[in-house]
Amino acid sequence: MSSKIFNLSISDEGKTATVSGWVEKVRDHGGVIFIDLRKDLELVQVVIEPSEKEIFAVAENIKNEFVIEVSGLVRKRPNGKENKKMNTGEIEVCANKLHIFSKSKPLPFQLDEYSNAGEEIRLKYRYLDLRRPEMHKNLIMRSEINNLVRDFLVKKGFIDIDTPMMTKATPEGARDFLIPSRVNQGKFYALPQSPQLFKQLLMVSGFSKYFQIARCFRDEDTRKDRQPEFTQIDIEMSFTSCKEIMNISENLIIKLFKKILEVDLEKFPKLTHKESMEKYGTDKPDLRNPIILNDVKELFLNSNFKVFKDPANDEKAKLIAMKLKKDVSRGQIDEYTKFVGNFGAKGLAYIKVNDSSDIEKGLQSPIVKFLSKAELENLVKKLDLKDGEVVFFGAGNKKIVYDSMGALRQKLAEDFELIDKTSWAPVWITDFPMFDETLEGTLTPSHHPFTKSLSSLDQLEKSPDQALSEAYDLVLNGFELGGGSMRIYDVEEQRKIFSLLGISEKEAKQKFGFFLEALEYGCPPHGGIAFGLDRIVMLMANEDSIRDVIAFPKTQSALCLMTEAPDKVSSDELEDLSIQSTFEETD
Ligand code: AMO
Ligand code: AMP
Repeated sequence: MSSKIFNLSISDEGKTATVSGWVEKVRDHGGVIFIDLRKDLELVQVVIEPSEKEIFAVAENIKNEFVIEVSGLVRKRPNGKENKKMNTGEIEVCANKLHIFSKSKPLPFQLDEYSNAGEEIRLKYRYLDLRRPEMHKNLIMRSEINNLVRDFLVKKGFIDIDTPMMTKATPEGARDFLIPSRVNQGKFYALPQSPQLFKQLLMVSGFSKYFQIARCFRDEDTRKDRQPEFTQIDIEMSFTSCKEIMNISENLIIKLFKKILEVDLEKFPKLTHKESMEKYGTDKPDLRNPIILNDVKELFLNSNFKVFKDPANDEKAKLIAMKLKKDVSRGQIDEYTKFVGNFGAKGLAYIKVNDSSDIEKGLQSPIVKFLSKAELENLVKKLDLKDGEVVFFGAGNKKIVYDSMGALRQKLAEDFELIDKTSWAPVWITDFPMFDETLEGTLTPSHHPFTKSLSSLDQLEKSPDQALSEAYDLVLNGFELGGGSMRIYDVEEQRKIFSLLGISEKEAKQKFGFFLEALEYGCPPHGGIAFGLDRIVMLMANEDSIRDVIAFPKTQSALCLMTEAPDKVSSDELEDLSIQSTFEETD
């Protein structure tokens, strides 16, 4: 095997070579100094013998992570001393010249013991953390994915167009990061939450296939799969259909998996949003998880147990049962009750099935005394309950039940190891509701306000809560990888949606006037999608946070620990911008 970085192999035996890099390890073996020299992901062994007096004296002071260059004879390693793990494992460079480019202080954490160091120190010294092979591999994979995406889309006739970073707000449901203008005092640019409006304008401009690997900015809570600054693979097409966009997207993901991981993904299944919520309690279901939610309303319509009877008779409420074939302890049940409480659930009713043939004595639970024999019999039948299973119930407010039971479903699968972590389960979620209702009863767009509805304008006005949109998400192993929709291209329809969302004509004109006007100059039907590049890389690299696939990410509190951004600015700078801070510092 010939190496790409040092480009040295057994065929170079007898030649003179010069190699440079970082000192990974120095060992003194009975007066002979051995150095593992590292460059990118490769190592080569350097030997310095005492007979090379001058350089030997220098080498004695070499420490880990010094940057050096050596020249010398390439020789075969003695029999039995080969290292099969190294590309250059059959040879070593016997140095007769040595130059130290730069020294290194002892590192704040050992590169091979990074996990003991904790993430804070790793992020503070991110440039050192990135020296680790794991991080190198992740960033190399990211670069390869980037190239494959470009190659795939360019071959399909997509044109890569940059859209501005200093712009006007694009609503994607988060807060904007603002940039104050010095030249136009009192005014602000916004960093784009996505290129949404610009890519739609490019359709008006007659580019029928656009893409961009675009940086996006959202001021929202940072989580393992969310960063304030992230990257989208952003796609838009005119004269197209959901089917075509989903098809291209699917082929793109299939290609990435094939080329990067040598995994053959099957055609992706589809679920409507309603099916997904009813079966899994979430619109991002992990289909590797075998647990499903069952609607059991019909069994408890006339129950004496109020916790079940009330939601069973309330159209807006839910009554869900979920079975698990595992032995769950009392302590675990208490823990799960607390867990669902975090989502607002008032309790977690459960029944343990000890003997399903004995309804009176074989079912164990604090609630069986409230339920009739017939109710229990019907439950056993409907869920096909078997001995050794446990059933959990979620009852009440629809959102709380779905959120809590959806999350519990995933937690149970993790705790009881029901998921095959080596498998891949992509799924399209379609037919999203057009709007979500806020706690205050107002409507917000379920995707974004430029999404086309499957309902007529009349229907939209009469029952907006029933309206469905032409939006679709791609979910992989429980993560939303991408989302898109067909767009509104009729200006009146767009105005109507704004008005249903409570955006006045004045506000619409102020925020989106340029866009509404563009729709009046011949706008083609169009649609698109955007994928979270960071999430794709995270899943493909088998990491559990997107921080591990971003070179310089922010922490959970949106800080860059290395540069200490965000930072204060001088009062002079603020004055230039006519900005006065009302923030009062507390010690
Ligand atoms: P959406 O808001 O669904 O759609 O975003 C598309 C995809 O971007 C990724 N993503 C994120 N990744 C990391 N950190 C974040 N904070 C973050 N937010 C989103 C997700 C998500 O699926 N303009 C529309 C797309 C369209 O309609 O074409 C949009 O931005 O993987
Ligand atoms: P309670 O009548 O509140 O004492 O509850 C009786 C049983 O029902 C307890 O086991 C609770 O954990 C459970 N329970 C109460 N409210 C709910 C709910 N909203 N969903 C599921 N189980 C519940």
